[in-house]
Amino acid sequence: MSSCPFHQPFFPPPLKNKASLFFTFFKKRRSWLDGLYERSYSMKMGRVKMPGLDLHVVNQPELIHRVMVEEVKAFPKNQLLEHLLEPLLGESIFTTNGEQWKKQREMLNPSFEMTRISHVFGLMNDAVKELRVRLNGQGKEHHLDIDPEMTYVTADIIFRTILSSRLDRHAAIQIIEAFVMFQEETARTAMRTMFKIPRWLWFLSGERKRIKAGNLVRDVLADIIRPRYDAVTSHTMGEEKDILASLLLVVDADTGARFSFEEILDQVAMLFLAGHETSASALTWSMYLLALYPEIQERAYQEVMSIVGEGEFDPFHIKQMALITNIFKETLRLYPPVGFFARESKDETTMRDKTIVKGASVVVAPWLIHRHPDFWDNPNGFDPDRFNDPSSMHKDTYLPFGMGPRICIGASFAMQEAVLILATIIRDFTITLEDNFVPDVVGRLTVRSANGMHIVLTQREGR
Ligand code: HEM
Repeated sequence: MSSCPFHQPFFPPPLKNKASLFFTFFKKRRSWLDGLYERSYSMKMGRVKMPGLDLHVVNQPELIHRVMVEEVKAFPKNQLLEHLLEPLLGESIFTTNGEQWKKQREMLNPSFEMTRISHVFGLMNDAVKELRVRLNGQGKEHHLDIDPEMTYVTADIIFRTILSSRLDRHAAIQIIEAFVMFQEETARTAMRTMFKIPRWLWFLSGERKRIKAGNLVRDVLADIIRPRYDAVTSHTMGEEKDILASLLLVVDADTGARFSFEEILDQVAMLFLAGHETSASALTWSMYLLALYPEIQERAYQEVMSIVGEGEFDPFHIKQMALITNIFKETLRLYPPVGFFARESKDETTMRDKTIVKGASVVVAPWLIHRHPDFWDNPNGFDPDRFNDPSSMHKDTYLPFGMGPRICIGASFAMQEAVLILATIIRDFTITLEDNFVPDVVGRLTVRSANGMHIVLTQREGR
């Protein structure tokens, strides 16, 4: 295994003991990762009980499998999540349950078949080529926070592949800022809800800002979708081959109905959120890890040069770049963008002899499971080569894209885009960290670095 003797990938040091309720509220208000304690990482199952909240965290593979795969109907998505995301996503596939979710999934599936993913490669690559121009235009040695670049390129890719639309820098900044605000306030709203802070007090704080931010993102998307939706109803649809086109045309197999305008807006808002925020988070963490491990970076450079050389990337190259794929997989293990999945128990049940009352929250947290010493050697170390032999891995303990019927619909899309972006950057630059930079790892809607990711990109010889 390659290792870096001086830097271990940073994560918030766990507390020695369980914190008091008061302490937990203030700590977790900023980031739920700050409220974890040592045993959280090694337990099979744990419980947080306080007035109004009964929450069970499951780390044991059999229990994970039960919640995510075998008994999905008994553990639907938590209503709190739906309520939290509603101002932005409406009733989208990410939060719905039961028949409503099933219909939405059936109607979205065709847009994400493998063949379609390769169809959008050209659109993805156009956005990545522009990223390359932007990064190369900054001289031989460029000091920057790479996180906004990763956010911009992934948002740009989503706009091009879903809407065939270009995201100009001004609109991008507007919606990205609105989205950051939405995330920050949503984390606070979650804590207010859990700790039963009266609703009238919420509006004295950030709740109004949160709703406004959600509306801003939806308005930008609505302006793009409206003319295309109207074109379908008036039979004047254009030639676009993007994901919106398949959403506009897809028909419910039972009723023959199409998605309504509001339904399409909900789904597109969700695809925009799920499709760029998660990928941006993981790509920023990949940059961090590559900077910490120069010899792995060098091997990745050799891989790109041997497979692609100086030529253009195509979808077949992506499939061949095994090391870069493993680097991204290992990043998703150490910094899973969706750090926990919140479900609830539909009826009373038992787990490890414990009674789980009806309505209790049940949480499966990749953040904890991916660092559990029972399932991983060197759990906090960066070792992409561990993915060379998937059979050596514990079943049901690697789930950055979820598991079972609700598994991420965009996983192949995300892998293709990530390998393309990483290979593009690695071919042109060496990546190092700014002196003494340590990321401030926070858990919000996704796992991010609150102080950005300050790196130095140095152009390779001959560029
Ligand atoms: C590295 C990038 C990504 C990660 C880590 C990720 C992770 C996840 C996870 C963990 C879930 C399941 C959550 C749960 O069970 O509670 C999920 C669901 C979903 N993701 Fe992703 N995702 C990524 C990229 C994408 C992209 C690029 C798209 C679309 C363009 C997308 C669309 C969705 C959708 C629609 C769902 C809901 C599926 C359902 O409930 O049926 N994701 N994602």
